[in-house]
Amino acid sequence: GTTLKAAAERSGRYFGAAMGADRLSDSGFLTIANREFDMMTAVNEMKPDATEPQRGQFNFTNGDRIYNWAVQHGMRVRGHTLAWHAQQPWFWGSLSGSALRQAMIDHINGVMGHYKGKLAYWDVVNEAFAEDGSRRNSNLQQTGNDWIEVAFRTARNADPSVKLCYNDYNIENWSYGKTQGVYRMIQDFKSRGVPIDCVGLQTHFTGGSSLPSNFQTTLSSFAALGVDVALTEVDVTNSSTTQYAGLTQACMNVPRCVGITTWGIRDSDSWRGSENPLLFDRNSNPKPAYTSVLNALNAA
Ligand code: G3I
Repeated sequence: GTTLKAAAERSGRYFGAAMGADRLSDSGFLTIANREFDMMTAVNEMKPDATEPQRGQFNFTNGDRIYNWAVQHGMRVRGHTLAWHAQQPWFWGSLSGSALRQAMIDHINGVMGHYKGKLAYWDVVNEAFAEDGSRRNSNLQQTGNDWIEVAFRTARNADPSVKLCYNDYNIENWSYGKTQGVYRMIQDFKSRGVPIDCVGLQTHFTGGSSLPSNFQTTLSSFAALGVDVALTEVDVTNSSTTQYAGLTQACMNVPRCVGITTWGIRDSDSWRGSENPLLFDRNSNPKPAYTSVLNALNAA
């Protein structure tokens, strides 16, 4: 394949990017997106604060603009995200206990109802673990330890057609406490029949030239539990070519690693822009890391 998506599609995988609605008027961005990518994620527009600005009053304007552009250009869409400690609707801040739990359930039903049958994946729950592998303390966690499984059961009922993912960062290193905490939750969900289809590893890498230890082992270990895995928000400090090649090869080596998404397209799109972490430079030219990813996709 001569593009990221063509190379990924050779093995039935996708290659995705993330965009904000402000990029819909950026012809440089749109040209590369249309040429290279076959999956799109909204960086902020489908998050809880964006989609439910007032209780029970949903706003899908910008989420729909991104969705429509992507679909019109032959892409699929990952939904991001439904339940998270950050970017919550303001009114969640004055709720707790069963009232907050119900607001979460209502939010999932409202947003998933709108996108029913349209999305490939939903990040149902985002970043719910602390670095040591315990649950992150948050207002949602304080509604009871079962909040995550309630979110997934609600999601399955709201749209049985979309794959339901748990998504987190710093779960790439197999030896790390947080990775093990998430692994045990997925194992528990699978053993008890809690609906979950995939784990998203955000893959925000910093520094060095080697991957976090046993990255491929992490992917294959999650997959062995009976879920798909995906690299959902990839960026790498200074676009280390060895790390980009390595993370791509790791995904290619694991049959249930279904795709890779970078968190933006050009360095100027990135939340870590000063670290130049993406595959295209500020002039829309592919960087050496682009070639290393393309070669790794084509080698599989
Ligand atoms: O839209 C307002 C604008 O009106 C205002 O003038 C400006 C001033 O700061 O802020 C703008 O909102 C910002 C928004 O991005 C849109 O650019 C927020 O402040 C800023 O906090 C927000 O950052 C987003 C961040 O999530 C928030 O948690 C990033 O764009 C987004 O890339 C980032 O994405 C997260 C994933 O969802 C989860 N994993 C980590 C990843 C990176 O942090």
